[in-house]
Amino acid sequence: MAKFDTIGVLTSGGDAPGMNTAIRAITRRALQHGIKVKGILGGYSGLVNDSMIDLGARDVSNIEYLGGTILYSDRCLEFKTEEGMQAAIATCKRHNIDAIVAIGGDGTFRGATDLSLRGIPTIGVTGSIDNDVTATDYTVGFDTAMNTVVEAVDRLRDTCQSHARCNVVEVMGRDCGEIALKTGIASGAVAIAIPEVPFDEDAAIERIIAAKKSGKRSMIVIVSEGVFTADGKPYGEVLRHVIQEKTGVETKFARLAHIVRGGAPTLRDRLTATEMGAFAVDLLMEGKSDVIVAEVAGKIVSYDISFALITDKMYKKKLAEGALDKFSAEDVEKMKAICDFRAAEIRRLYDIHLGLCR
Ligand code: F6P
Repeated sequence: MAKFDTIGVLTSGGDAPGMNTAIRAITRRALQHGIKVKGILGGYSGLVNDSMIDLGARDVSNIEYLGGTILYSDRCLEFKTEEGMQAAIATCKRHNIDAIVAIGGDGTFRGATDLSLRGIPTIGVTGSIDNDVTATDYTVGFDTAMNTVVEAVDRLRDTCQSHARCNVVEVMGRDCGEIALKTGIASGAVAIAIPEVPFDEDAAIERIIAAKKSGKRSMIVIVSEGVFTADGKPYGEVLRHVIQEKTGVETKFARLAHIVRGGAPTLRDRLTATEMGAFAVDLLMEGKSDVIVAEVAGKIVSYDISFALITDKMYKKKLAEGALDKFSAEDVEKMKAICDFRAAEIRRLYDIHLGLCR
């Protein structure tokens, strides 16, 4: 078993419901092992600027149900510079921080790798509403975000039904359409536009016209923020006008934006954050470093960060020349299988939506 005096915990990138639940689990699991815990404030900025608090058992009481992150978050550019990195390492030395658990998404994991390579064992725990880390089936915050979308859309549906209107709703997710796809299905959307699947605008317009003719009063269209027109405009706002002009149905537009990132985590997020947080500390105790905690087929597992990040690039078709060279043929096959599975799941769900929306 590895020996640690103090571990640091931080949250970085976009906040996500469940991050606090993970902070609690990480802190309490470390205390269980007799390890002290520092809460680093403002993500990697807190390491660069030496900003942190002690976390004891009572400091993390009653935070499991709070949205946001009590440790605050940031996207720290300075940390990416050699100077910033040196300052971060010096902060760790000053406070006897000999390992870190970093909660966040892919940007957070790149930072975690940098720290691991500099001799500070670091473990990543997924926290992002987007569910956009390809190697894990699930990122903490995703379920809460989807439930928030569905609740908002249910309200929009009420008023659409009263006024016989259509509402185009844009939801977050960056270049990942999973929030849009799953909430669109759960809300009975008449059309869903996501970055992963080409959107058939003409077919959507025909569906709306036919639905109107058959007596449908309320129409919901969900558009992911990652879908743009050919000239780079957010597609949701444009689609609203197209629908109104071509179907004659009065059409409103709602951008849910950061509303979707706030709020108390759901049961699913609390459970997953707790399991992942406790597992991250266990991995450190086993002497592991530079890995992320992931969920695969319902099980909590770990992946090397480089494997996870390259799998993500493969899925998003952003692989740089030679990026796969350092991986074994077996690893590359595993990456391809993960990407194929993810793409097939999205296609399968999209086809279910197409079969039902009318
Ligand atoms: O990654 C989470 C996320 O909420 C994305 O869905 C969104 O595109 C982005 O962060 C917004 O970032 P910011 O909070 O910096 O505006």
